[in-house]
Amino acid sequence: MLSIRNLSAGYGRLQVLFDVSLEVPAKGITVVVGPNGAGKTTLLNSIMGNATVFSGDVVFEGVKIQGILPYKAARMGISYVPQMGNVFSDLTVMENLHMAGYMLSSGEVKDKAAQVIGMFPVLKNFMHRKAGTLSGGERRMLAIGMGLMRKPKLMLLDELSTDLAPIIAKRVITEVARLRDELGITILLVEQMAKRALEIGDTAYLLVSGDIRFEGKATELLRDPELSKLYLGIKEA
Ligand SMILES: Nc1ncnc2c1ncn2[C@@H]1O[C@H](COP(=O)(O)OP(=O)(O)O)[C@@H](O)[C@H]1O
Ligand SMILES: [Mg+2]
Repeated sequence: MLSIRNLSAGYGRLQVLFDVSLEVPAKGITVVVGPNGAGKTTLLNSIMGNATVFSGDVVFEGVKIQGILPYKAARMGISYVPQMGNVFSDLTVMENLHMAGYMLSSGEVKDKAAQVIGMFPVLKNFMHRKAGTLSGGERRMLAIGMGLMRKPKLMLLDELSTDLAPIIAKRVITEVARLRDELGITILLVEQMAKRALEIGDTAYLLVSGDIRFEGKATELLRDPELSKLYLGIKEA
C-alpha cells in the first residue's frame, strides 16, 4: 500500500533520514522501532508532507506523494495520529469526534462515531466530558478514534506509549491489533516501547540514526538478542 524508496529527508538543510526504504503492505501492521532521535517521527512527517524530502520516493497506492500537502495526504486516506495524540481539551469527546469527521456527511459522522465507540467502549461513558479531563490512556484512545473518523486506509501512529504508564501503554498498543483484525486498516506504527509493538506487528524495521539496521519479521527482531538488547531495552524475548 505504501512504499518508501531510498528516502533522504529532514528539515530545511538538516538531514535526518539516510536512504531509507520500507514497505507497508495492505492490512498489516508494520512497526518501526528505534531509539529516541532516530528519525521515526521524521519518517511519518515525510509521508504526510511535514518534512523536507531531499531525494527518493514515497509511493501510496501507486502514486508518488512526496512533498504533498498534509491535507491532501489526509484526503487520500492517510490518517496521522501524532505522538502526543492531539485532542481538543476544551471540547467534549463527542465534539472531538465530530471535529475529526468534518469532511463527512452528518449521517456518516453518526455511523463512524458509533464504530469508534464500538472499538473503544470506554469512551461511551465520557461522550459529554471535556477531553481535557480524560486520563492519558483514554485520551490516546480518543486520538486514535479521531483518526478513524477520517475513514483511513492507512493509519500512521506515532509513539502511542508516550507519557503513559507501561500497563496502560500496553493496553493501547494492544488495541491497535484490533484495528487491523476487525477493521482491516493498514498500520504503520512507530514505537519506542518496542516489545509490545513487536508482539502485535507483522513486519518490523529498526531505525538507528536515520538508517535502517534491520528489516524482517517483527518476531525475528524481538528474538534477536543483540539488536533487542542494544537498541530496544529488551533483556529477554
Ligand atoms: N521540526 C524539526 N526541525 C528541525 N529538526 C528536527 C525537527 N523535528 C525533529 N528534528 C530533529 O530530527 C532528529 C530526529 O528526530 P525525530 O524524527 O523526532 O526522532 P524520533 O521520533 O525517532 O525520536 C532529531 O535530531 C531532532 O532534533
Ligand atoms: Mg518521535
